Parts: sequence; structure tokens; C-alpha cells
Amino acid sequence: MNPDEPNSPQLDAEALRLAAANALIRRRRTIKPALMSSKPVENRHLAAMLENANWAPTHGMTEPWRFFVFKDDGRQRLADFLQDLYKKLTPENAVRPEKLEKMAKQPLQASVVIAIGMARQPIEKISETDEIAAVSCAIQNLHLTASALGMAGFWSSPPITDSREMCDWLGLEGEKDRCLGLFYLGWPEDEEWPEGKRGDIIEKVKFIHD
Ligand SMILES: Cc1cc2nc3c(=O)[nH]c(=O)nc-3n(C[C@H](O)[C@H](O)[C@H](O)COP(=O)(O)O)c2cc1C
Repeated sequence: MNPDEPNSPQLDAEALRLAAANALIRRRRTIKPALMSSKPVENRHLAAMLENANWAPTHGMTEPWRFFVFKDDGRQRLADFLQDLYKKLTPENAVRPEKLEKMAKQPLQASVVIAIGMARQPIEKISETDEIAAVSCAIQNLHLTASALGMAGFWSSPPITDSREMCDWLGLEGEKDRCLGLFYLGWPEDEEWPEGKRGDIIEKVKFIHD
């Protein structure tokens, strides 16, 4: 069997695997809580997303991702805490009412909100950059799985979440632990899946031949 023949089974298998990877990666989209419906996220779907997150690459096998999953009334507790935290960390004359309103509303618009934790090893053998990168890979896995299921996902990183107060509230006890934001999850309200856009890859690649 010649693998260069168009109908060879080997070529078909490669084309299929590539098509599956392309569809998974390019279908992933950010869909914000305002465009999520009230349909609940089932536990089996949540478990599948968290399990895939756990398969992210990890330097030194530290597995630094920590997830705090807010559901049902837990979302109200999160909304209340975010508003209090914003008021505490923002100078009084800089508090923006529309931001406060968003913090009150957004967690309730999504079925599930996941606070994204990064737990640093006390010995700090692995750099903070690498630990953040590993957690980002975990979120990518989670988001890819959500998109494959047709679910809406949004990684939000308001500066107040990257604070000692946020870590303490979540129970991220390590001095060097961080919260990298919130991941909102739900079903999209619209039937139409949004289009993505990117600049040309050729602008971002340099080939070095010799
Ligand atoms: C680390 C990280 C943090 C992000 N934080 C925010 C945010 O705070 N607010 C926001 O509107 N989008 C945020 N995003 C989502 C981007 O806006 C989104 O990925 C971008 O618009 C491209 O859209 P796509 O995800 O559908 O490809 C964040 C994305 C990443 C990777």
C-alpha cells in the first residue's frame, strides 16, 4: 500500500486526525455570561471538563492548577465577595458603578463559575512563569472541551482576583499562590456559534534555516 495514494487508509487516518484537531481548536470561542442561557451544566459535563484540564502539561509534575467551582447559591456568594473586594481594593473616587453592577450580575448569568488557582510549591523549584503556563494549558483544555460540547466559556481576569484577599477567601494558602481569574461556563443563548478571527500566522513565525 502506497501512503501517498489519495485513497490509502494511512492518509485517510492522518487527514481525519488533523480535521478533528482543527475542528476542536478552531471551534473554541469566548462567549460571555450575558450571552449564556439559564440551562444548567450537568455534572457529567463538568466532570469531563475538569478531568481534561487535569491532563495539561506540567513542568516537574507539580500539577499547579486548583479549581474552585461555584454553582447554584455559591454564585451569589462569589458575586457578593467580588463586589466587596472591588470596593475594598479600589480608591473611593475611582469606584465605577458599572463595574460593580457587572460583578453583581455576571456570576449569576453563568451556570458555573470556576475560580482559577495556581498553587506554587514551597520549594519554588519550578518558576512562576512555568506554573502559570501550566495552569493556562489546563484552562485551554477545559475551554476546548466546553466548546466541543457546544458550551459557552469565558476566561475573565479582573485585577482584583489576583490579590492576597482573593487567595485567602478561596483557601489558597501558599504565600506564592495566585488566582488567575474566573472561568464562566454555561450554555449559549444563541443558536449561532460565533465566528473567531486571527491575524495571519505568517506574521508571527520566523524560519531559521542555517
Ligand atoms: C489569560 C486570559 C485572560 C483573559 N481575560 C479577559 C478579560 O478579563 N476580559 C475579556 O473580555 N476577555 C478576556 N479574555 C478572553 C479574550 O478576550 C478572548 O480570548 C479573545 O477575545 C479571543 O476570542 P476567542 O477566545 O473567542 O478566540 C482572556 C483570555 C485569556 C487567555
